[in-house]
Amino acid sequence: MMETWLVGTGLTSEIGQALLSRLGPTCRVLAISRQPAVDPTHHLTWIPGDLANTRELWLERLVNELKSRQVAQVTGVVHAAGVVFADRVTATTQDEIDRTLTVNLRAGLRLLQGLSPWLKSGSSVVLVSSVDARMQSIDGPAAIYGAAKAGLEGLARQLAAEWGESGVRVNAVAPGVIASGMGPQAGLTERITRQVALGRLGNPEEVADAIKFLLSPQSSYITGTVIRVDGGLNLRY
Ligand SMILES: NC(=O)c1ccc[n+]([C@@H]2O[C@H](COP(=O)([O-])OP(=O)(O)OC[C@H]3O[C@@H](n4cnc5c(N)ncnc54)[C@H](OP(=O)(O)O)[C@@H]3O)[C@@H](O)[C@H]2O)c1
Repeated sequence: MMETWLVGTGLTSEIGQALLSRLGPTCRVLAISRQPAVDPTHHLTWIPGDLANTRELWLERLVNELKSRQVAQVTGVVHAAGVVFADRVTATTQDEIDRTLTVNLRAGLRLLQGLSPWLKSGSSVVLVSSVDARMQSIDGPAAIYGAAKAGLEGLARQLAAEWGESGVRVNAVAPGVIASGMGPQAGLTERITRQVALGRLGNPEEVADAIKFLLSPQSSYITGTVIRVDGGLNLRY
């Protein structure tokens, strides 16, 4: 069977790990993260990189890896790295603003720009956004994060239009409140689940399923869209 190549950020998160566990045996993965990403079943190669540091050469490392392995096409890209400093804008430092915009948004743009020579007909890009891109954050102020994720969704739509004629699809997944990493702060779960139609938090596997669908040929006519994975958050209001 033919090898496929997935390049991802944020694959060390629970959502990322759930995605890795869903990939087929012919999928090779290049994972950019600060801590080593490990997943022997998919022949994962770790590309060390701090996405918040704009002077770091993670993209150059990634490109060298693709060239040295003579990869002709990157079939899937997932930008799932994210960071949030949940506070009022007036209480957010310049460093926190820079980190939030850089990790969530700029790094995704830099990654896709650098990977563009490897994105060909059939390639699929999934940007991991958040419902905070379109609504008030449910567990406290997070304006910079919301702005970064809204930018990511704009990027998905614009690149879908730009790359559509090449057969490259670009979509976003917007999780609601997920019981993982950036999930709800302690004590808020009950109040939050009252606002979710399905009456519970989501789990990382449910987000990974949506990402996997968008990466797969089963979604071959879907591009420029955002799939919310939020259990019907705020449908009651
Ligand atoms: N959990 C939720 O409720 C929720 C809701 C909506 C959206 N999301 C989105 O889902 C994605 C995963 O979130 P999570 O909740 O699972 O968060 P998490 O556990 O905090 O994971 C964050 C991920 O981002 C990577 N990352 C953060 N800063 C980085 C940096 N400077 N350089 C490189 N990688 C960096 C981390 O990799 P390393 O630490 O290994 O470098 C890790 O893989 C994020 O994009 C988040 O915005 C989550």
